[in-house]
Amino acid sequence: MQTYSLNGQWQCLPDENDIGIEDKWFLYDKIKDRNYHLIPLKIPNSFNLIDGYDLYEGVFWFFYEFELKNKVDFSNFDYQIKFKGSNYNTRVWLNGFFIGEHEGGFTPFKFLINDHLKSNRNYLVVRVDNTRDKDGIPSIYFDWFNWGGIYRDVDIIILNKNRFRDVRITTEILTRKSAKIHISYKVIGKIKFEWQIIDYYNNEIIENGKRTTVFNRDEFSIYINNPRLWSPQSPALYQLQIIDLSLMNKRNILFQSDFGIRKIEVRSGGLYLNKKKIKLKGVSLHEELLPYGRTIPYNKRNEDLQRIKKIGFNSVRTAHYPHDEALLEIADKLGLLILEEIPVYWDCNYKSRKTFKLAAKMLVNLIGRDYNHPSVIWWSVGNEIPTHKKECAKFIENLMILAKNHDSSRIVTYVSRKLTSDLMRRKGDVAALNTYFGWYFGVMKMLSLILDWIRTPVLNKPWIFTEFGAGAKFGYRHKGKNPPKFSEEYQLALLDHTIKTINSKEYFSGWFIWIFRDFKTILKNNTYQQGFNRKGIVGEKSTEKKLIYYHLPKILNKKRKKGFNTKFIGIILWIIFFPFSHFITTHLVTLITTNVDKKTYKRGIQRLLNPN
Ligand code: GCU
Repeated sequence: MQTYSLNGQWQCLPDENDIGIEDKWFLYDKIKDRNYHLIPLKIPNSFNLIDGYDLYEGVFWFFYEFELKNKVDFSNFDYQIKFKGSNYNTRVWLNGFFIGEHEGGFTPFKFLINDHLKSNRNYLVVRVDNTRDKDGIPSIYFDWFNWGGIYRDVDIIILNKNRFRDVRITTEILTRKSAKIHISYKVIGKIKFEWQIIDYYNNEIIENGKRTTVFNRDEFSIYINNPRLWSPQSPALYQLQIIDLSLMNKRNILFQSDFGIRKIEVRSGGLYLNKKKIKLKGVSLHEELLPYGRTIPYNKRNEDLQRIKKIGFNSVRTAHYPHDEALLEIADKLGLLILEEIPVYWDCNYKSRKTFKLAAKMLVNLIGRDYNHPSVIWWSVGNEIPTHKKECAKFIENLMILAKNHDSSRIVTYVSRKLTSDLMRRKGDVAALNTYFGWYFGVMKMLSLILDWIRTPVLNKPWIFTEFGAGAKFGYRHKGKNPPKFSEEYQLALLDHTIKTINSKEYFSGWFIWIFRDFKTILKNNTYQQGFNRKGIVGEKSTEKKLIYYHLPKILNKKRKKGFNTKFIGIILWIIFFPFSHFITTHLVTLITTNVDKKTYKRGIQRLLNPN
């Protein structure tokens, strides 16, 4: 496989009145003759980084001319155009011909272009629309910035007619001294090949073999002795290489992928990595860094994960959508466990079959893209979704079944912000909880009892505290007692107390601070927030380390002094109050949350449009 990058200086044009289709902007001449004021933009990049378009939500058109290095050869090769990420709805034309359309902002997509690709000058036109869609994934309301445009790499992929697809590397630890590596794949055409396993550690080929001509599907297993297991402490990697033995392409590498030998499993109420009990201690991360938007340079992503590892965290939750695959490559090498999620977030149109199909496609694409990364241990199919609604419960349950069918080697669950009434949690491999006790509501001191209460309906599974946190405006300090909210001292006190409380609960197998870095959002607009969610342990400028940043290494493993054991009171309270909480959630909470979201969103737009 060869790739030809289309990253570079493109031209673009906003289409605020959405006239481009009707006006045939996909035809070269249409644009050239009209002398439109084209805006140069380096792709990949979000169009919200263009002056005057920072809040823009709508249609943008992109134009790019390119010529391939080598003459096209359709008898031996197929040519695809691949987008690694473009938000939200993307349509593509090549030399005036419609190539295809993709809905979804965070997973890769590609189209075959043999029919319209030319050896000399090619004219590529891309229309991207990040208008929010109630039937979309995510839907209208979400607490992150809606960066629009072609924000990840664009490549021409040149593929042998005879090639591999969906190569899956599944590892199994058989004994302390042996492991099995199972390779399954699909073949287009027919191939005769040699495979080899390279141990990164000493760069040696440790196993290799040949396979005679195969087509369609095939699989085989390799057994290795004294395997080096992958874990955060020792992220040992191997590489699978598949080499073409057909005459024409003597020893061309047809496929290669790093992988790690590791096993993540849930058993007897705990989480086990390589058969050892593990606690996840992590932080969530949005794919955003100013001034780059979502197009974060590789070294900056590396810096983020290095810092996260240095603080002592062993895992990262990629909120609330698939990040660029580069993040996983770094996590594989550094040794960080990754939780991945598709952006089924808050209130989506759970009654719509189209919306379900969209979510299902995103999930399958995500698993297909990241299956071979040892760092990835978890697929979440939704965040803070209204599972008390039957249609939502069904939607989520079906997505979890789908995820398990595509990958039974990883944890599958969804993330809930419900306290005591979410019985659906029983359907996930683990029970995941988001709650901002001591921030949005409640008194910190009550947390221990509340957790014992919340946990009651799911006693036999590990719990993961997927989100907790407090906002702090960098530099807002408070000396003395009772620090106010948004001060760095309040954030420190809340996170310190919460971490110690969770660490003292054996049924919690992990926790994730919301969030590593302050991020842009139109839903947060008070005097401290000003369009940012301020729950980061660092400010939006990564250099702004808040007080908690310095204390975390000491707090991570601390436990609350043994106080009064509230486990049984928690269970009793649950039994007494469940009927009410179920009623309240089913009827009142929905009403409140939806109206709050609507109002906050409208207010957010107003305030950002008229800051004074
Ligand atoms: C929720 C949600 C996050 C959001 C956070 C907050 O829990 O999952 O996306 O940013 O609350 O309000 O800070």
